[in-house]
Amino acid sequence: MSAFRHRHLLGIEPLEPSDIETLLDTADGLKEVLDRPIKKVPALRGKTVVNLFYEPSTRTRSSFEIAEKVLSADSLSIATATSSVTKGETLLDTAKNLEAMNPDMFVVRHSASGAPHFLARHCRSAIVNAGDGAHEHPTQALLDALTLRQRKGRLKGLRVAIVGDILHSRVARSNVWLLTKMGAEVVLCGPPTLIPPGIEAVCPVTYRIDEAIEGADAVMMLRIQLERMSGGFFPSLREYFQRFGLDEARVRRAKKDVVILHPGPMNRGVEIASEVADGPYSVILDQVTNGVAVRMAVLYLLLGGSGGTA
Ligand code: CP
Repeated sequence: MSAFRHRHLLGIEPLEPSDIETLLDTADGLKEVLDRPIKKVPALRGKTVVNLFYEPSTRTRSSFEIAEKVLSADSLSIATATSSVTKGETLLDTAKNLEAMNPDMFVVRHSASGAPHFLARHCRSAIVNAGDGAHEHPTQALLDALTLRQRKGRLKGLRVAIVGDILHSRVARSNVWLLTKMGAEVVLCGPPTLIPPGIEAVCPVTYRIDEAIEGADAVMMLRIQLERMSGGFFPSLREYFQRFGLDEARVRRAKKDVVILHPGPMNRGVEIASEVADGPYSVILDQVTNGVAVRMAVLYLLLGGSGGTA
């Protein structure tokens, strides 16, 4: 497999298209291991990974844990709610104390944008960003891209609509970086209050969902992140669904072979109707499956797996 020149995975922004290709090709290659009767290879034997999650997670944390086990890394997950973080220990002190036990990597989720970058400057371990505030969620964008590439055979030239709470979405940011670097055409859509100022300089914006979806190859619906909102960004959830929710009638405006993505967790009936989330165009559970392969690729490439995958 190709060499990967980065020590950390902090975001999609610093990556070259060739890095993204390497990550996706490696994930494609490793995916086969997950279909074996015995899903275990010795590639990362002797490596230790600490999953340090300061925010809740179902998909990202579980898939990192599974990826670590499949690749034979030793791993542990720190639940900050039951750790000394609750006694006031800082992020850096927590990391430094864990690092004194000699791990090789931290997988970090934190509510503060830049927290993984801060650790990368102060720790000797490899750092993987598992989501930092509203900044980036690089492994989510990679698994989205892997899913799109599997379904469409390419990323270049695809028209992808990203709809919803763009303002608070690290998933949107990482996907905009990845998809534009790989030659896809991205259009963003949401209420004006949930679109970051100045984003029009990066890709087109519309406030009308029908316009965003028209002729789309893929539609990525985003969750309304109520936990990051302090004020009234829209009148009501009911009105939000009427203006920006994805139902079957709206899906028909896209291409016939459109795929519908959502990073999860979903707010059914708010940004997406159940008939769409569970319908024939949905690839939402494929995204979750691909999350394991993508995280295996990240671990493998950053930790310099040498034990083989046979
Ligand atoms: N998509 C995603 O990051 O999901 P979790 O918050 O469950 O990890």
